[in-house]
Amino acid sequence: MVAPSPERYGAVAQALHWLIALLIAAMFGLGWFMTSLPIGQQKFELYQLHKSLGITILALVLVRLAWRLVKGAPAWPPGMRPLERRAAGLAHAALYGLILAQPVIGFLQSNAANFPVVLWERWPLPALIGSNQPLAERLLGLHGLMAFVLLLLVALHVLAALRHHFWLKDGVLQRMLPRLGARP
Ligand code: HEM
Ligand code: HEM
Repeated sequence: MVAPSPERYGAVAQALHWLIALLIAAMFGLGWFMTSLPIGQQKFELYQLHKSLGITILALVLVRLAWRLVKGAPAWPPGMRPLERRAAGLAHAALYGLILAQPVIGFLQSNAANFPVVLWERWPLPALIGSNQPLAERLLGLHGLMAFVLLLLVALHVLAALRHHFWLKDGVLQRMLPRLGARP
């Protein structure tokens, strides 16, 4: 059942959006920094952190999608043309697809490369696929490529949000932000 369209994103949806955005930004920095390091303890530890954070992001995205299914999302602003609505809908779906697929591919890559994934140094996660070096290399390439596509899409998403805020002034950014000050 689809919930009725709320006026704005609720506190939980907002908190999840900004927390996930922040963690993904950290993952880009971490991903590119850790791969540039020479082999050693620091590199190993940062890889473990990257994997644990990535799996945590996956869990948060699943919670966020479940929450969205229950609570729904605000309707598009009335001024948005059908083509713009379609583009925004596709961009949001692609963002969800990428932030789900990226950690899954990272995880499968670790399985195929025969590196165990131990969540927060405590919980070893079972491998979903067996050791397979050629596959590990292909997944590695895909993980790197998808990181660039995600970065590009996030940049477009941010530009779109700023266009709504400063140019169209249609309140789209505000509905993803806490309501500050007194309510009428
Ligand atoms: C939203 C989640 C994730 C994002 C945004 C992300 C992003 C990145 C980025 C930007 C890189 C550097 C790519 C490069 O140098 O080509 C990277 C590398 C890597 N990621 Fe992720 N990642 C995510 C989740 C994961 C997860 C869950 C795992 C494993 C459980 C993982 C495993 C790896 C590994 C092993 C590398 C290093 C590859 C190498 O040695 O060249 N990632 N990731
Ligand atoms: C890694 C970074 C980000 C990701 C993955 C991301 C992803 C998403 C997704 C999937 C939605 C659709 C929400 C839904 O309807 O369920 C959304 C909405 C939104 N995002 Fe982001 N976002 C990111 C960063 C940002 C940033 C930095 C801004 C602001 C400058 C922003 C502004 C917004 C706004 C205003 C909406 C609501 C759009 C609407 O009301 O239709 N996002 N974001």
